[in-house]
Amino acid sequence: MKQNRVRIYEQGSPSVLRYEQAAIGAPGPGQVRLRHDAIGLNFVDSMFRDGSFGVSLPFDLGVEGAGVIEAVGGGVENLGVGDRVAYYFTPGAYADVRLIDAEFLMKLPDDVSTDLAAALTTKGLTAWMLLKRVHPIRQGEFVLVQGASGGVGSLVSRWAKALGATVIAAVSSPAKAADVRSHGIEHVLASNDPDFTATVLAITDGRGVDVVFEFVGKATIKQSVQALRTGGHLVHVGSASGLPVSKDTSSLAARRIRYTQPSTPQYVNSRSNLNAASSELFAAFRAGVFGEIDPARYRLSDVVRSHEDMAARRITGPAILIP
Ligand SMILES: NC(=O)c1ccc[n+]([C@@H]2O[C@H](COP(=O)([O-])OP(=O)(O)OC[C@H]3O[C@@H](n4cnc5c(N)ncnc54)[C@H](OP(=O)(O)O)[C@@H]3O)[C@@H](O)[C@H]2O)c1
Repeated sequence: MKQNRVRIYEQGSPSVLRYEQAAIGAPGPGQVRLRHDAIGLNFVDSMFRDGSFGVSLPFDLGVEGAGVIEAVGGGVENLGVGDRVAYYFTPGAYADVRLIDAEFLMKLPDDVSTDLAAALTTKGLTAWMLLKRVHPIRQGEFVLVQGASGGVGSLVSRWAKALGATVIAAVSSPAKAADVRSHGIEHVLASNDPDFTATVLAITDGRGVDVVFEFVGKATIKQSVQALRTGGHLVHVGSASGLPVSKDTSSLAARRIRYTQPSTPQYVNSRSNLNAASSELFAAFRAGVFGEIDPARYRLSDVVRSHEDMAARRITGPAILIP
């Protein structure tokens, strides 16, 4: 049997992505063969591609997918042919069909489509980690989201608002600002606004925000520190613009700012907390917290263009690849 997959033989620009055919065997013990309906596009994929993370080559890209089980290996319990499932943070997702250990899979509720699961799982579990574990949101808190138009940032902004926070969203362009506003976020600022800090202080009655969720890194982290209240929490989730040159620990300490740098697999790391987190995530979706999620769609064979668009910041919100 054949699979269509995306593999890299060297790290670099999007042009290193090779869409190719390869043989695929039967599932081994503990494995299933999964036919993807949709594959999540995540910023971390570009970091595996461009060399930000070391990988052993050749490397099969993609960490998230959703689809239907086609065949089951020995010893697999609780999953069978025809089950609709999804997974997150398991490399090798950029393929129409793949082998995967059954232990990484979660069954999807009937009302969660495989397209939605591929768009929502990794990003939504990250939002869950941030808002429910790393900085549980309290009613009335002021929250700044740097990178609020992104896949994770858009979910964090909407969920924090639903939990009772006043959200200040930072974005780079008027089109992205309009999209973020259309989801009910009232305060949307341009991240390059020279009056950024003054505006944040005006919105927060001179105090500064309680917490920043920082997805952009190098380009904005200084501004994030300035926007925080004394004793606030700087949650450094990602560095889409590059890693900050250095962390100014003395100025953080002088203002009693707590700095954390969490990663989703540290918090969603067992079957029981995956079940708990995904139940809360899908319940929030059903309750309308995220509004309509209409991910940008690319053909898997058009993967180079999807990475070009991600690098050029042309995508707003989540995106998926369709085999
Ligand atoms: N710690 C974890 O476990 C974890 C989990 C998931 C994601 N992350 C990280 O969180 C960040 C966001 O992930 P995502 O999947 O939501 O990515 P994404 O959809 O591509 O969003 C990134 C956002 O950052 C902004 N940005 C600012 N400068 C940028 C630049 N030079 N290049 C690209 N984007 C830039 C863009 O918005 P504007 O154009 O409006 O500025 C973009 O919407 C990434 O750094 C990712 O690695 C971390």
